[in-house]
This record gives sequence, structure tokens and C-alpha cells, in this order.
Amino acid sequence: MNLKEYITIVDGWPKEGISFKDITTIMDNGPAYKYATDQIVSYAQEKGAELIVGPEARGFIMGCPVAYALEIGFAPVRKEGKLPREVVRAEYGLEYGKDVLTMHKDAVKPGQKVMIVDDLLATGGTVEATIRLIESMGGIVVGCAFLIELEELHGRDKIGDYDVKTLIQYDV
Ligand code: PRP
Ligand code: MG
Repeated sequence: MNLKEYITIVDGWPKEGISFKDITTIMDNGPAYKYATDQIVSYAQEKGAELIVGPEARGFIMGCPVAYALEIGFAPVRKEGKLPREVVRAEYGLEYGKDVLTMHKDAVKPGQKVMIVDDLLATGGTVEATIRLIESMGGIVVGCAFLIELEELHGRDKIGDYDVKTLIQYDV
């Protein structure tokens, strides 16, 4: 299956000059959503993942079905102020200014093998901050899986030697 056929390109959204990759047309197609999920499930299985971690909001869409299929847990990464118990925090850069990602401080067990799943690898800021959160709790990041990679933004460079799998690549 060629997953690219199910992505809808929206030029000029959310602002001029951006070519937005809309994944909702994968999600609303049962076979395409299953196919994409299955690729990440195989990768997570290969890497021996014991926990899936996904950043809100689109990381939930890709990460939760992977955790369900493998019968392992899912731990959410959320923006500050959304989690009810004690958290670990990581700042990360945005185009303008910075934001903070958080996880419950007991979400990852020391030595646990963790796979990060998200929809998109762009600059790598989100995944890099997520790696810091997981490692601050003693977790071992065994891989990072994304539906889409925007190669021109060199997100892979930001996370160096970590294993990365992406299902669809764009050069713009
Ligand atoms: C988007 C996307 C990734 C992240 C990738 O999330 O879903 O999580 O940006 O960009 P990066 O590699 O440059 O960090 P966004 O923060 O827009 O929020 P959303 O998932 O809630 O839509
Ligand atoms: Mg996101």
C-alpha cells in the first residue's frame, strides 16, 4: 500500500508558505490506518518495546493503537498543566518562543524499554524533549516511529544516534 496516496496536502495552511500534511485522510480509511499502524507495531515488536509514549495530540492517534495491538501500556506526553499528578518537565523550542512538555513522574519505570510514536518528525524538537523526559525517569528509548518525516528540517540530526523509523518522507 502506498500510504502517501492517503495523505492530503493542504497548501497555505496554517499559514502562507506551509504545505500541511493532513493525516486525517489516513485515519478515516480503515485499511490505510491499519496498514500504517501495523508497520509501527512490527517495528516496536522488533525493538522489544515494553511501553509506548506519545505526545499530544496526534501522537495519541498513532501511538494508542500500537500499544493496544502489542498489549503493552501507553503513557501520554502532555503540555504543561494537563496532568493531575506530579510531573517531570522538559522545555523545547518552538518557531517563536518555547513550550513545556510533561509526563507523570512514575509513567516510565527505570530500565523499561520505551518506543516513542508520533505522527510527524519535523524539526525534532518534540521528540528530543520527549527523550529527555523518558531518560530522566530511567527509561531506555529503543526507537522513535513516525508516520511522516519532513526531511528538509533534519529532525534526525537533533536526536543523533537514536533509532528512527518513518513511513512516509517528504523533501519539502
Ligand atoms: C506537531 C506534530 C509533532 C510535532 C513535530 O505537533 O504532531 O508532534 O509537531 O514537530 P517537531 O519535530 O518540529 O517538534 P503539534 O505541537 O503541532 O501539536 P498537535 O500534535 O497537538 O497537533
Ligand atoms: Mg504533535
